[in-house]
Amino acid sequence: MEDRPITLSPSLSNTHSSSEEDKTVLEIWGGASLHGHVGISGAKNSALVIMAGALLCSQDCLIRNVPALADVTRMAEILSALGVKLERQGNSLLVNASHIAQSKAPYELVSQLRASFFVIGPLLARLGVARIPLPGGCAIGARPVDLHVRGLQAMGADVQIDHGIVNAYLSGRNKRLQGAKIYLDYPSVGATETLMMAATLAEGETIIENAAQEPEVADLANFCRAMGAKIRGAGTNTITILGVPSLHTTDYAIVPDRVEAGTFLVAGAITHSEISLSPVVPDHLTAVIAKLQAIGAQIIEDAPNRLRIVPGHRYVATDIETLPYPGFPTDMQAPLMALLTLSDGDSVITETVFENRFGHVAELTRMGADIRVKGTHAIVRGVPMLSGAPVVATDLRASASLVLAGLAAQGKTTVQGLHHLDRGYENLTAKLQKLGANLQRTQLGADGDSPLVLPDPTTVPTVTKPGVTKPA
Ligand code: EPZ
Repeated sequence: MEDRPITLSPSLSNTHSSSEEDKTVLEIWGGASLHGHVGISGAKNSALVIMAGALLCSQDCLIRNVPALADVTRMAEILSALGVKLERQGNSLLVNASHIAQSKAPYELVSQLRASFFVIGPLLARLGVARIPLPGGCAIGARPVDLHVRGLQAMGADVQIDHGIVNAYLSGRNKRLQGAKIYLDYPSVGATETLMMAATLAEGETIIENAAQEPEVADLANFCRAMGAKIRGAGTNTITILGVPSLHTTDYAIVPDRVEAGTFLVAGAITHSEISLSPVVPDHLTAVIAKLQAIGAQIIEDAPNRLRIVPGHRYVATDIETLPYPGFPTDMQAPLMALLTLSDGDSVITETVFENRFGHVAELTRMGADIRVKGTHAIVRGVPMLSGAPVVATDLRASASLVLAGLAAQGKTTVQGLHHLDRGYENLTAKLQKLGANLQRTQLGADGDSPLVLPDPTTVPTVTKPGVTKPA
């Protein structure tokens, strides 16, 4: 593949909000009912780790269904800084890591995307050395990487954290990681993915116990297997990997985004609208569907990989506890809280995965919600209605929660902090407009000039069925 610069949409190139972005807001006029069908994009949390996984292979990897998101752009810039060649072809990404020029990822890029820490496993496995800045915490928690580090140490790596950099290297003649039995103190998604990728090129067998079972972990395993890796048990709490000397080219399509799908199910419920969405893997949404049905909506699989939500008239309070998969996903806690603010009675929401994931509570309260937080619990007392207000998003899923509340609120809601939204929702404004929502993205003019209406920062590419599309 000749030298081509990575061609990705410029407007996604900065996840930290620039002054311009601070002036970009979403204006939502609530009360419109939605109708029709919405297409679900590829999963952000699969795309990011699978892009890092392509570092394991020295040949072309074509990854399909890659959503056009700020985080994807960021990961591409980090891989490119390591010497990887990338080319966007519609909603596919052609990745070639034949010449990894760098074992050190640049701090200024890593600090903007936690998921960039995923490159440590593949780099160490390929090069025998990796130097990755500590990703640091974010709005929702401290998010340490001790489980990643301890697992790599168990596989024979020497790992030192020095001046904020995780230095990992392999001594010994063949510079290969060694298979090991690793018990994770917590079924961390990231640690499971890091160790599973590292183990694909290790010498011997690795067993990861108390592993994360998220669909994105299984999707990564399928991608690695499509490159020739020997992995069993992904999607269960015990994963066994038999290392191989090298991996080969593949053409792989990632799964649909279950969190985006869950967010649209809530959009239908909170506006009392009947809508359908596809492609989805209904099994990936079991806990979310169960809670929406307990609250009073109906969810039907009315065609293969397609869900339809039939709203209820009144919704009832329901308790939620976030847990590792297959428990209720923490990424759906904020969107579902928006719906519970309008349900009859008191709901207790317990966030067990991240220690600081109630950033949306104060903003929902600004819209008239009645929520009290006590430690890891939020007590949501249902109110008859929400009223539009200017609100600020504090993180990705909090931003989705505010958009959902705005769709149901009386009057106008103005959401600021859209750089959070653009990290994880592809073309959300256009998708909601197509369903009949009354909203627009605008650039606030200086001293109140008429705002400039803006498109979403991305186009909506076509979708491909998940899994291996061409035999390797
Ligand atoms: C992944 O984050 C997702 N991100 C998150 O989605 C998601 O919320 C999370 O899994 C849980 O499902 C990506 O896949 C890019 P964890 P990750 O390691 O891997 C603690 C979104 O909104 N922990 O399972 O970082 C950690 O602090 C994002 O799309 C350690 O203590 O999640 C947290 O409390 C947000 N030590 C808990 O485990 C470690 O070494 C779960 O973290 C690793 C994690």
